[in-house]
Amino acid sequence: MGKSIRIAVVGSGYVGLVAAVCFAEMGHEVICVDNDERKVRALQGGETLIHENFLPGLLHRYGNTRVRFTTDLSDATRSSDVIFIAVGTPQSGNGDTDLSYVEAVACEIARSLNSYKVIVEKSTVPVYTNEWISRAMARNGAARDLFDVVSNPEFLREGTAVADFLHPDRIVVGSDSGRAAGILEDIYLPLTTGEYYTRADAISGHCNVDQPPPLLLTSTKSAEIIKHASNAFLALKISFINAVGNLCEATNADVEQVARGMGLDRRIGPRFLRPGIGYGGSCFPKDVAAFRSVAEQLGIDFNLLSEVEKINVLQKKRFMSKVRSALWTLRGKRLAVLGLAFKGETDDIRESPAVEIVRMLLAEGCSIAAYDPAAIKRTEEVLPSGPSLRYVEDCYTAAKDADALLILTDWQEFAELDPERLSQALRHPIVIDGRNLYDPQVMSGNGFTYLSIGRPPAHPVSDLASISAPSARSN
Ligand code: UDX
Repeated sequence: MGKSIRIAVVGSGYVGLVAAVCFAEMGHEVICVDNDERKVRALQGGETLIHENFLPGLLHRYGNTRVRFTTDLSDATRSSDVIFIAVGTPQSGNGDTDLSYVEAVACEIARSLNSYKVIVEKSTVPVYTNEWISRAMARNGAARDLFDVVSNPEFLREGTAVADFLHPDRIVVGSDSGRAAGILEDIYLPLTTGEYYTRADAISGHCNVDQPPPLLLTSTKSAEIIKHASNAFLALKISFINAVGNLCEATNADVEQVARGMGLDRRIGPRFLRPGIGYGGSCFPKDVAAFRSVAEQLGIDFNLLSEVEKINVLQKKRFMSKVRSALWTLRGKRLAVLGLAFKGETDDIRESPAVEIVRMLLAEGCSIAAYDPAAIKRTEEVLPSGPSLRYVEDCYTAAKDADALLILTDWQEFAELDPERLSQALRHPIVIDGRNLYDPQVMSGNGFTYLSIGRPPAHPVSDLASISAPSARSN
């Protein structure tokens, strides 16, 4: 193992908590700070609070030993050499990023400095934030030779955040100081030398000792832009394929075939070309808006980003039209909804297109039975159950006597439904799939009317025979 470094991580949300336990897994001593006492107590008691693979195991292994939890930022600052800021950076009204938590943390760190520290910005922030942190710290009494501020953006996906952290495609370190960059390089040595991957108990992923992740050293500003540009580009890829999907619907082509054909071009690649009801989550919507706002403030014409957002909003409206096209009027219709989380394998509903669609359906007078394997509790907090909305415990209970079944989240469980049970439960065998989890031909063969994204509608084989229409889709 490389040198153990004393690290403080400020913020115990998705990014902070995952970073804290992963640094411990890499051999470092970590103090994780949060000002929410309840959260700190829960973490001290071994509760993870978020749905994240490998997190419970790592917390069990390192909690209260190599990772300690506290509310005392001053103490954590004094007893660490490197302080990662991983607090929330919510969106403010005009799309800007609200950096007040970052500023508050920077000021408190400044007042507690007792020796040289590296302050690392890990939250997603607009360009120039590092400079502002330095300025705020200096204004709060920090001597300029006692700290450096660097940017080390994360590229973690919810659900696979731990594996993403330990098997990154790249580690970006934006630093204008050689001394600070060297310390960050030391922190990541277990990964960049490949040493971590030789351990028998290493969490597995795509990196290995022969293919360790590269560490890219950049200026602080470049690192800040890399993060925003990467997320905006991925969102653009999704909106692009959704727009192509709309074109396919208008021409009876199949967007899955088109995406496959595009993705085989290595310059394009197959990932993030899955059509659906639009992107959601805590990052993409916020980051695209923030990047657009940064460009606007700098007088740069980057209207492409507005188009990305526009397509994303439209995608949910188009889905609503699809539901109408299958059911005619919506008032009084009973619908089964599968999926509330913004994507599969997470309980997170922030900016979830599924929740937004549920709201739209309720506003149109539908009554809904909804199921999600993990996100019901969180959804209930924003959409309490009532006469028009019931939360149920499995897919088939949701489907019972429904006029149609809607798939809104790409949980693996939803891709493995038993067609016979489903058909028996539904009042009408209609499935409207916002995530393209099924082959239309198979669904029509099983007697369903099946509408999906960017593909021709498929109707039950018996219906087709009776109206002798041409086959809905051939592969
Ligand atoms: C994202 C980035 O991937 C990650 O690098 C960054 O650090 C945080 O934001 P996350 O929000 O966890 O991660 O989810 P991701 O898996 O990227 O999906 C985002 C949204 O896009 C989801 O709503 C998902 O359903 C949607 N999506 C994704 C598509 O609609 N199509 C795709 O092909 C991929």
